[in-house]
Amino acid sequence: MYRDQEKILVSREEIAAKIRELGETITREYAGREPLMVCVLKGAALFFTDLIREIDLPLTTDFIALSSYGNSTRTSGVVHLLKDLDADIRGKDVILVEDIVDTGVTLNFIRGMLMDRGAASIRIAALLDKPARRKVKGLKADYVCFDIPDEFVVGYGLDFSQKYRNLPDICALSPDVYEPKK
Ligand code: IMP
Ligand code: MG
Repeated sequence: MYRDQEKILVSREEIAAKIRELGETITREYAGREPLMVCVLKGAALFFTDLIREIDLPLTTDFIALSSYGNSTRTSGVVHLLKDLDADIRGKDVILVEDIVDTGVTLNFIRGMLMDRGAASIRIAALLDKPARRKVKGLKADYVCFDIPDEFVVGYGLDFSQKYRNLPDICALSPDVYEPKK
């Protein structure tokens, strides 16, 4: 059965509590400013919509889509821009909202691109961080909700082959699913 393939790593209650806390932190740290919140599609979509509702500031939103993954559980290392931002970000305080920092290749690519366009500041808010997998030296998210071990996770926006995004909790996917036994 669909639901038998995972074990819960971070529950929906833990996610909600952490996001409330992060919303308060961002509200406090960006007081007097109007940050542009950028959602990195598709994985961060659920995190993004929950997070912006916990921020009490006149923020604006935009969306960007990239792909590096194909259908495997390991990054290809090549990032493609699938959908660019609509907004001109010159002079804006940008907060990039990402589902997970894994090797760091994706975030490094977006951050470089947005810096070249003249953002006033760029910070990264990541739902998850897998520090053990980092390839890009020195790449750190400014806000991280949960550090997790090197396990492939799905749910709460994260996918395997575009599935499992609708699970309300963050779950470790059984390797049987992505490494089927012959
Ligand atoms: P990076 O470029 O290696 O840091 O990979 C970042 C992207 O890979 C994330 O935005 C996710 O879309 C995807 N990714 C990395 N690890 C996982 C995982 O455990 N589950 C689902 N997607 C992942
Ligand atoms: Mg993905």
